[in-house]
Amino acid sequence: MQATQKTRVLTGITTTGTPHLGNYVGAIKPAIEASQDPNVQSFYFLADYHALIKCQDPERVQASRLEIAATWLALGLDTDNAIFYRQSDLIEVQELAWFLSCVCAKGLMNRAHAYKAAVAENEEAGNQDPDRGITMGLFGYPVLMAADILMFNAHKVPVGRDQIQHIEMARDMAGRFNHLFKGEYFTLPEAVVDQKVEVLKGLDGRKMSKSYNNTIPLFTPEKKLLKLVRKIKTNSLEPGEPKDPDGCTLFQIYSAFASDQDVAAMRQQYADGIGWGDAKNQLFDYLNTHLEAPRERYNALMEDPGYIESVLQKGAERAREQAAASMEKLRAAVGLGRFV
Ligand code: TRP
Repeated sequence: MQATQKTRVLTGITTTGTPHLGNYVGAIKPAIEASQDPNVQSFYFLADYHALIKCQDPERVQASRLEIAATWLALGLDTDNAIFYRQSDLIEVQELAWFLSCVCAKGLMNRAHAYKAAVAENEEAGNQDPDRGITMGLFGYPVLMAADILMFNAHKVPVGRDQIQHIEMARDMAGRFNHLFKGEYFTLPEAVVDQKVEVLKGLDGRKMSKSYNNTIPLFTPEKKLLKLVRKIKTNSLEPGEPKDPDGCTLFQIYSAFASDQDVAAMRQQYADGIGWGDAKNQLFDYLNTHLEAPRERYNALMEDPGYIESVLQKGAERAREQAAASMEKLRAAVGLGRFV
């Protein structure tokens, strides 16, 4: 099958945090699996330009980029197959973002959830200026994201539910550009929201998220992992009392990792009244067994940033080859082509 006929799947990871179990189950694992499909050309990138919107702590951004890259490599992403790169290595993305800015209605951006939420917060706080503290970066966030996607004419964009609107906006911009400049320059992308992939719960039972400070970092050292698992909130039922696995955070995390058979066995243990301490130990053992080998690889990779840099440079080279070719056409389309 020719490369051009493959389905192009693209997604970005904002580099502001340390990957946790929820990221792994919800995004990283399915993405690495999808990239093994020979009918797919996947593009995975560190959305580090996007990171600057949320985070003005350079050390955090720098550390997060390295951690996220090391995580994907440690978990076995095949970078000969998937194109794995840093957004900020593709200066072309900024150029395309500008082209799209010039066809994107301001009113469309006014309706973006993230911007609206920031305005609502100002209004609730009684600020006179509803735009107080809101940067152009935040306001134009969906344009940059559209540039990421449209640059490679991605067909499918796996994202969380909160990002669906951004994909719709990218379609809007693509359609507008095609119409204005009379050509099929861009493919209209589709959001893919995996219904099967559960949103993992965190230590306190709410969605596992950096903003709730309730995460279990994926490659936390073994001792720390045990400590965190012990912190997972349970109810006050005693050992011997039957317990309901559905809705139980421990059981949910266990289920995300274990085989169907082991999940069924655990379900039976709940019915038989397993004690919480015992359930936590079993969860820890399961996680630790699964994470031990990639954790070792992760630690080794973190010690070797030069290697990670070289992998990302290679990815950027492959991505830029395509991006540069697209930009040449797009420049000509808008009237910024060469004279001869
Ligand atoms: N905004 C996305 C998020 O926060 C990250 C992202 C940036 C992205 N560019 C993208 C996702 C392009 C998919 C496609 O999750």
